[in-house]
Amino acid sequence: MKSLLQKLTETFAPSGYEAAIREVIRAEIEPLADEIRVDALGNLIARKGKGGKRIMVAAHMDEIGLIASHIDENGFVRFTTIGGVYPQMLMGARVRFYSGVPGIVYTEPLDKPTDTPAIEKMFIDVGATSRADCPVKVGEVAAFERPFLDLGDRLVAKSMDDRIGCLVAIEALRALKDTPNEVYFVFTTQEEVGTRGAETSAFGIDPDLGFSLDVTSWGDTPGRKHFEMALGKGPAIKIKDGGMLSDPRIIRWMVNTAEAQGIPYQREVLLGGTTDARAMQLVRAGVPVGCISIPCRYVHSPSEMVDYNDVQNAVKLTTALLANPVEW
Ligand code: CO
Ligand code: ZN
Repeated sequence: MKSLLQKLTETFAPSGYEAAIREVIRAEIEPLADEIRVDALGNLIARKGKGGKRIMVAAHMDEIGLIASHIDENGFVRFTTIGGVYPQMLMGARVRFYSGVPGIVYTEPLDKPTDTPAIEKMFIDVGATSRADCPVKVGEVAAFERPFLDLGDRLVAKSMDDRIGCLVAIEALRALKDTPNEVYFVFTTQEEVGTRGAETSAFGIDPDLGFSLDVTSWGDTPGRKHFEMALGKGPAIKIKDGGMLSDPRIIRWMVNTAEAQGIPYQREVLLGGTTDARAMQLVRAGVPVGCISIPCRYVHSPSEMVDYNDVQNAVKLTTALLANPVEW
């Protein structure tokens, strides 16, 4: 599982450019699913089982990134962001363009060295000396460049948001030998720019219920307050986030299943941010949804950290939910 996670997190796929990660995931799930298709927005949809309740399980394939907006005469690349990328995460960071070109991020001089630079003041240096020899064109996308790090129980990578959700979905599909349900594992596109792939794929699937698999915030490092979630205490069953209230029947289904299986879990109230479940909930005439979250430190930084036990327990919980008739 760790080596697959390394492969998933070291693949570059900012929102809208998910082809590379889609091929990695497709190769992994091809032998496991009953049917696989890709829809018009690039969502990878794998069905397991036939008849029974249609359940959609969404994990997003895309990651946050940068997009070149202007190349100046000296070959420096100006950029804007794809999703929630913050300037303080970018100073000195290494990035890699989808084309393979590496670069480093820095800023124009600041009034005070302790100031946080605005994105407009920052640039990517790809080693070019002029616009003519710059290997990057306007509109090319980049993502953080950072290798996977295995600290034993704690695992660190760029794009843990949400390749860890993709891993949980893949491993649950692998573990799901038989199901009375019609399960659609959807590896979605463009979540980081507003849950766009989940919206169209949910419309196409028209599920009876669903949940997302995504990361959530954390409360267990210095100075963090008002967050319950901690690494190693189990996957979190979402009750509320910044864009969604989980359906109480889904919460009950998840809690009862976790307790019956002896799987540790945490109750999640997230103050800001949301997941693909929000888009699923509001599609067509509405869908009851919830979310299983993996507590993740330093979300949207180049070094996002999860606990391996939480990951394994998320796989167990997801599999147990899907392997049995839905009881809520
Ligand atoms: Co995110
Ligand atoms: Zn996410």
